[in-house]
Amino acid sequence: MRHLISIEDLSRDEIVKILNLAEKFEDVARGSRTLKILEGKILANLFFEPSTRTRMSFEVAMKRLGGDVINMTAQEASSIAKGENLADTIKVVSKYCDAIVIRHPLVGAARFAAEHSEVPVINAGDGAGQHPTQTLLDLYTIRKECGRIDVKIAILGDLKYSRTVHSLIKALAMFDADMYLISPPQLSLPEELYDEISERAKVVKLEDVLEELDVIYVTRIQKERFPDEEEYRKVAGSYKITVETLKRTKSNLIILHPLPKVDEIDLAVDKTKHAKYFDQAFYGVPVRMAILVEVMKSERF
Ligand code: CP
Repeated sequence: MRHLISIEDLSRDEIVKILNLAEKFEDVARGSRTLKILEGKILANLFFEPSTRTRMSFEVAMKRLGGDVINMTAQEASSIAKGENLADTIKVVSKYCDAIVIRHPLVGAARFAAEHSEVPVINAGDGAGQHPTQTLLDLYTIRKECGRIDVKIAILGDLKYSRTVHSLIKALAMFDADMYLISPPQLSLPEELYDEISERAKVVKLEDVLEELDVIYVTRIQKERFPDEEEYRKVAGSYKITVETLKRTKSNLIILHPLPKVDEIDLAVDKTKHAKYFDQAFYGVPVRMAILVEVMKSERF
């Protein structure tokens, strides 16, 4: 059995293998070819935090491959509301399915779930910890749009609380990308994470690197992680990508965002050729197909 809890659970070769497999599933993800290789398999989606893309794209991925999905989204409608603990929930749910996808507000919850599960567990986001399947689709999008992963990439926004960033920077370091970290001072990357990637990363201002960039990866301020509303108000609205920003970039620069976005990208940017975040959200389907196939059908990725 193999869990996917953090991006370091995968080697560079294993990541490439997933991206290559995802490429083969793109037409299946679009519905133009059918494939029933997960027929008879059941995925359990356990979401203890809101989600649109991750939950739905796992569900679509499973169904497009002939499998089925059971969902637990509303905690008030489950026995969690009666006081059941996470370990017991996982022990039981893992008897009903072939793999579990879990999102939880606490860092470490997915690892904890894996310790109590009889089937593979996939981390769909644990608090401000990691979001490894998002990272795989981010890498897929970069490779698809730029033709390589060793790009010059600005990572802009909430680097303190964004779990997508915490996973992505480790993967980008594995693939020798050059990272430019840009954030309000209060939302800078935690020191222990910066130390892991310092050979490949610099803290800069966006205007100083704009002309060099292949990718700008924008993140939302993670309001829900702030211990204090007043601290959130101090940084709210402190950065925004606009059409004006794009006047100084390479013509083939791409803008990515894990979504949801709030106000950090001006709506006019959505209509430009640079905006790739909606395609990025679609690539979540073939990438999650590849992850599910590897998790459910083989001992190793
Ligand atoms: N990117 C992402 O995790 O989106 P959701 O919160 O909608 O799943």
